[in-house]
Amino acid sequence: MKDLKRKDMIEMYFDFFKERGHSLIPSASIIPENDATVLFTTAGMHPLVPYLLGQKHPAGNRLVNVQKCLRTSDIESVGDNSHLTFFEMLGNWSLGDYFKKEMINWSYEFLTDEKYLGIPKEKLAFSVFEGNNDAPRDEVSANLWKECGAKESQVFYLSKKHNWWELGSGSGPCGPDSEMFFDTGKEKCSLNCDPSCDCGKYLEIWNDVFMEFEAKNGKYLPLEHKNVDTGMGVERTLVVYNSLTSVYDIEIFVLLRKKLEELTNKKYEENTKAFRVILDHIRTSVFILGDDSSLSPSNVGAGYILRRLIRRMIRFIKNLEVESSILENLALIVIDYYKEDYKELERNKNYIVSSLIEEEIKFNKTLKSGYKTFNKVIKNLEGDTIDGTNAFKLFDTFGFPLEFTIEMANENNLKVDVEGFNKKFKEHQELSRTASSGEFKGGLADTGEGSVKYHTLAHLTLAALQEVYGKEIYQKGCNITSERLRFDFPLDHKMTDEEKLKVESIINKNIDAAIPVIKTEMDLQEAIESGAEGTFSDKYGDRVYVYSIENVSKEICGGPHIENTNQLTHAKIVKEESSSAGVRRIKVIME
Ligand code: SER
Repeated sequence: MKDLKRKDMIEMYFDFFKERGHSLIPSASIIPENDATVLFTTAGMHPLVPYLLGQKHPAGNRLVNVQKCLRTSDIESVGDNSHLTFFEMLGNWSLGDYFKKEMINWSYEFLTDEKYLGIPKEKLAFSVFEGNNDAPRDEVSANLWKECGAKESQVFYLSKKHNWWELGSGSGPCGPDSEMFFDTGKEKCSLNCDPSCDCGKYLEIWNDVFMEFEAKNGKYLPLEHKNVDTGMGVERTLVVYNSLTSVYDIEIFVLLRKKLEELTNKKYEENTKAFRVILDHIRTSVFILGDDSSLSPSNVGAGYILRRLIRRMIRFIKNLEVESSILENLALIVIDYYKEDYKELERNKNYIVSSLIEEEIKFNKTLKSGYKTFNKVIKNLEGDTIDGTNAFKLFDTFGFPLEFTIEMANENNLKVDVEGFNKKFKEHQELSRTASSGEFKGGLADTGEGSVKYHTLAHLTLAALQEVYGKEIYQKGCNITSERLRFDFPLDHKMTDEEKLKVESIINKNIDAAIPVIKTEMDLQEAIESGAEGTFSDKYGDRVYVYSIENVSKEICGGPHIENTNQLTHAKIVKEESSSAGVRRIKVIME
């Protein structure tokens, strides 16, 4: 049996594309730094949106990387063979360079050549865009696959729903795609069964997107430069290569599984769903908490997703009848496994572990109030059935699994209206899907005027904080919208009013001084030697941009920025609070 390790597979992909002129760029943060339209990075292309729209990338026009991604719209499906919330996506990009011919030839070579994945040719299937009023039927891609050696019967024409990639926001770079599938050899589920069917016969492993349009106000405008954006899921490809049954059979999950069996005295085979939920959610929670943005569980936005993941995991741990805290033991395995490639996990190890434990303690408290509510509900009950609304309230507000509620109801000779619960659950799911569709499916990296200004303000803010507190102050986290800047930095005390005023006045003095903001492209090493600040050096590629504001600030940064500080209006710190131990968070607005 083949045993390709994650690391070797990633290396193989990198080497393949490096040999073909691609520069390796680092994974971006899993929580977008300059983009308030999405909660998490959902695909490798997401941090590259400005470059796909034409901005020049400092690393060149052929890029390759592996990106930390998170998709949570199907969180309730985790537990089956293929659903994961966190995953790693290999990707390569052409920014106005090569297009369909090169990409399809390379894809076929990488998939089938024994030097690479060596998948038997007859085990592959390919889909191409069938065409509509916006873009033609993609005969070009279909013919290219056939020229590579694919049979007519292996190429499928599918509709926009399946073979068109665009961000959930409905704007930004987009275009038809061509997907590659592994045919598992299962019987077709019906006469119409094809790669768009999710019966499990076909497993998608790679997607080549031909981004030749920009979606704007419901129209598709041809882009000046045609791009390629490809995405290959690391976990799924390992499943195919190593002939595994499920994504939960890959190395990291086997390690976690063993530990969990040891800690719970239960068997994976007998508790598959609970195990899978715990394995997936611990990995995802570690990656969210391990990001340098110091996100913590909360009731809004990304913090709420984190809270749901941790609590759901704890519920499943309780289902395994474990009372002691085991989150730290599991988290350390994840950190250890990935720390070489994602240095931030080691850097934030203490934060990851303490946040998990803190949330567990909090949840244990909600569980108690949940029990109280349950008792109140049964006390006031008319008849013998707890209705769907109350069962859902226990689930949603207090994190009570339905099974808990049913069990406790049975002990009191009561029943639960499961159908009513499911109805409420569906309503809620639809509501949260609609409310969050833009957030989960992707969005346009915000390069609008307002956000660009706040981006420059962030540099001025760091410089002012350093002037007040010393050079050791650095940017711990940064989040920008067109209306405000949120900035995290290490400091051992609450800012005094006097200190706030000082920081504001330094920023405003530099705004009034009308200093040009100068962009220079250079090697990373050269940038560091020139004294440019980087948030975290491992986040950058070999070629970088440095933005300088003379005598004030010099930072390695992707930009974009305004041209002169006098384009900004005066800044004010409107909020100052603790973000985590030893870290302050300020909200700054321009008046
Ligand atoms: N953006 C595409 C995807 O996520 C290809 O990378 O599938």
